[in-house]
Amino acid sequence: MNEQNRNWYEAIALRHSRRKYVRTPVEPEKLERLAALIDELNRGSDASRIALVHSHDGAIFSGIRGGYGIIKGAPSYLAFIGASDDSERDEEPGYIGEAAVLEATHLGLGTCWVSGTFDPAAAGQDLDLAARERLLAVSPLGYPKESYSFTEKVMKRAAGSHTRKTLEKLCIGEMLSQWPDWAKTAAEAARLAPSAVNRQPWVFRFDGRELTVEVDAEGGSRGSASKRLDCGIALRHLVVGAQHSLDAPVSLSFGDTPRITGVRPGGR
Ligand SMILES: Cc1cc2nc3c(=O)[nH]c(=O)nc-3n(C[C@H](O)[C@H](O)[C@H](O)COP(=O)(O)O)c2cc1C
Repeated sequence: MNEQNRNWYEAIALRHSRRKYVRTPVEPEKLERLAALIDELNRGSDASRIALVHSHDGAIFSGIRGGYGIIKGAPSYLAFIGASDDSERDEEPGYIGEAAVLEATHLGLGTCWVSGTFDPAAAGQDLDLAARERLLAVSPLGYPKESYSFTEKVMKRAAGSHTRKTLEKLCIGEMLSQWPDWAKTAAEAARLAPSAVNRQPWVFRFDGRELTVEVDAEGGSRGSASKRLDCGIALRHLVVGAQHSLDAPVSLSFGDTPRITGVRPGGR
């Protein structure tokens, strides 16, 4: 598989949400590389886009509402934008956004998807949002402080960030022991995906041919962010994991439930 997929596969294991940053700006070469990827991702997407804000006054993460101030010092940020009239497609900004997050991780930068603890009004001043657009989440971008600060540790403990549901709990359809290696590798990669308050609101279904990400059936979930946004993030991990295992591209379709087909060209 290509170098980009290899880099992103490695980044999946390295990525952790980081909330405290040193003020050192991100090098222009890295920002340019990210901007080029973001252009490509945005071109391939109908109703969603990512914006890269190179420098800002910090207001987005230091508003006056409770909970702000958790993210500190990031010199740049990413904004994940979806369609204002179609929350049924929130997986798209998740899917394209996580590609930018994995690339940033590969470049040695820290990130943290943030859908709650930021000030949308301050972001609105940095972004030129069209009426049909809705800002779903942002991520700080920069060099994280080497050690975790006290508040970072508290946030990680509160969200249970280091834990993940087991594959046995997440995988449905055919018995997990019967899944081909590519589908198991894909599910393991998706299991590590970030989600709001680490709720992991997804299941992975394999029917003998297609692997599907579905929003879980659990009601009254923790957090107010869209579960479809989380599922789009997991879908990116699923695709990267499948392609890594197969060493070949997979085909992907969005429908009521996003599906990927990980069959080798010429295979079943
Ligand atoms: C869509 C989304 C929204 C999130 N919103 C916030 C947030 O508002 N504030 C925050 O500190 N962390 C937020 N997080 C980070 C999660 O708490 C974190 O991803 C999860 O606990 C797993 O930890 P990890 O990313 O270190 O693996 C969000 C993550 C996602 C994917």
